[in-house]
Amino acid sequence: MTQIIRVIYNQKGGVGKTTLAVNLAACAAKSGKRTLLIDSDPQGNASSYILGNDKYPDSTLADYYESCLHLNIFRQSIFEYITLNTKIPNLHLVASNRELEDLRTKLENKHKIMKLREGLKNNTYEQVYLDPPPANDFFSLACLIAATEIIIPIDCDAFSIRAATEIKNTIEEVRQDHNPNLKVLGIVVNQFQKGTKHSIGIIQELQKIGFQILEPYIPSSVKIRESHSEIKPIVIGHPEHAVSQAIQSLFNSIENISQMKNIRNNFTDKTSSKENNSALNLD
Ligand SMILES: Nc1ncnc2c1ncn2[C@@H]1O[C@H](COP(=O)(O)OP(=O)(O)OP(=O)(O)O)[C@@H](O)[C@H]1O
Ligand SMILES: [Mg+2]
Repeated sequence: MTQIIRVIYNQKGGVGKTTLAVNLAACAAKSGKRTLLIDSDPQGNASSYILGNDKYPDSTLADYYESCLHLNIFRQSIFEYITLNTKIPNLHLVASNRELEDLRTKLENKHKIMKLREGLKNNTYEQVYLDPPPANDFFSLACLIAATEIIIPIDCDAFSIRAATEIKNTIEEVRQDHNPNLKVLGIVVNQFQKGTKHSIGIIQELQKIGFQILEPYIPSSVKIRESHSEIKPIVIGHPEHAVSQAIQSLFNSIENISQMKNIRNNFTDKTSSKENNSALNLD
């Protein structure tokens, strides 16, 4: 079985990483795939979205990393012990909380950046979704190294362009140093405001940098915020809602792109290239 490990990454905060990681994982689970969602953010927002704020998880990603700091012959299989069941069939969760942050310096000093990748070897999940924090830090980098595919959510503001340029450089570096086969599936346009010239302009700029823009765009809806307090992914709680249908179609197109064998591993920088390939970083 080829395992897909998708990281929903952007070092910029509040762009919809957690919302998309949780809902795409829920779409995968709904389609019958054995799915694991790993909350890699000490904020623990994905965990709260699935478990609620009141439930203190019995075990978390911090337990795994803690064991990596000690010589422990069972640590390769520890994922089996920290994975929680959820109310959604086929969806399992590795939760997170503030304890993760307390381990960061020790993990950096002891060079444990490969441990997430190692911990994910030899498991039975068909798809894994990683929700990193809004930073270019140890936990994000560990996710980028562990992932097979990256999806980049953006909100359409002017800072997105600078963020995307930084992401492009980070991806090149991660590929060069640790993970040469990391596939860039593309950018998800979140909180899209229809008919605004500003948003269209930003999307065109992102295409020029060489990113594939995934479709459909995800509209802004208060229903998403409500789904956080309902403690249920919107695609499960309100599958008929327009936002759920957009996320479901997005999941389907991600699945199609992921199956294409010829995703080019290089960006096509259209600001400097004369080549006019409308498929951007796809052949
Ligand atoms: N399409 C949308 N429409 C309306 N609100 C949205 C949408 N997507 C996300 N939000 C809201 O925006 C806020 C930030 O979303 P989310 O937590 O998913 O972003 P994030 O990138 O994970 O944030 P952080 O960087 O802090 O981890 C949340 O309150 C969420 O409910
Ligand atoms: Mg988040």
